[in-house]
Amino acid sequence: MGGYGCGPSSLNDHILTVAENIKLTNKIFWMSFDAPELASRARSGNCVFVYPSDGNDHMLGRPFAVADADTEKGRISVCYMVVGHGTAVLSAVKAGERLKVRAFTGAPYPEGAKELILAAGGVGTGAVLLKKKERGKSARLFIGVPGRGYEAFADKILSLYPDAEIYTDDGSFGRGDSMFAVLPRPLSAEKELWCCGPAGFFEAMRRFYESTPEHLYYILEKRMACGFGGCMGCVVETSGGPKRVCVDRALFRADEVDLHDN
Ligand SMILES: Cc1cc2nc3c(=O)[nH]c(=O)nc-3n(C[C@H](O)[C@H](O)[C@H](O)COP(=O)(O)OP(=O)(O)OC[C@H]3O[C@@H](n4cnc5c(N)ncnc54)[C@H](O)[C@@H]3O)c2cc1C
Ligand code: FES
Repeated sequence: MGGYGCGPSSLNDHILTVAENIKLTNKIFWMSFDAPELASRARSGNCVFVYPSDGNDHMLGRPFAVADADTEKGRISVCYMVVGHGTAVLSAVKAGERLKVRAFTGAPYPEGAKELILAAGGVGTGAVLLKKKERGKSARLFIGVPGRGYEAFADKILSLYPDAEIYTDDGSFGRGDSMFAVLPRPLSAEKELWCCGPAGFFEAMRRFYESTPEHLYYILEKRMACGFGGCMGCVVETSGGPKRVCVDRALFRADEVDLHDN
């Protein structure tokens, strides 16, 4: 799997106009950029580095998965959670402002099994949505969120994918209080599950699919610095040796990585 659109070149830096920056929960935002050319070549697995200002104050870019690419509107979008300074600065950005965006880092995901189950917890959702778009009905999308306060987040997902299956920890809306009551088992070569979410979510998946780790995949979002393969800051230790999340791949089989080491 080679890097797609990755490279140290400043030619990959774009100054983009923010089309919208919508608050979906008290911490999660959906930010879209006018970028027709990028929208036409975005693939699931691609990430962007968004620079919280216009790049003049030396703030590093923050990496986010490309959550959507809309070729009709000519937009790419990210779904981000406010966790620190950079994302707090981003949350205050208004439509019409311009930001530096480095695109694309992150190798595209492979095709995946004939039946693909995409499962995400909270903001991990951004890493699986584009795969759902590419696979359509041949991928099921399970999303788990805390519940109250996440209504607009769920509505956003459902507006894109009406067949998304949403579960809430507090059972306040959606299809129930746990996707683990309905997730298909066992997995097989024809039925893989790819997941992304917080550490507890990965651990729950690992336990749930303990007997078939070779068909369970984690999408890992390591901290990154350069984003083009040069600094080794995003290395994941695997049974096949170290891999860089930014250019080698972000998708790992559960039996090739130890989450406690990474
Ligand atoms: C490949 C990749 C894809 C990502 N995709 C998304 C996405 O789609 N949506 C999203 O909300 N976030 C995503 N992230 C994480 C996001 O980049 C960080 O949350 C963001 O950079 C934090 O910036 P900050 O300045 O607000 O926080 P900082 O001030 O830098 O950090 C605040 C806190 O967040 C923690 N933190 C920072 N980065 C990470 C990280 N990568 N993983 C775990 N904890 C971290 C820090 O340890 C610290 O405790 C992704 C990260 C990577 C590497
Ligand atoms: S972030 Fe520098 S090598 Fe991946």
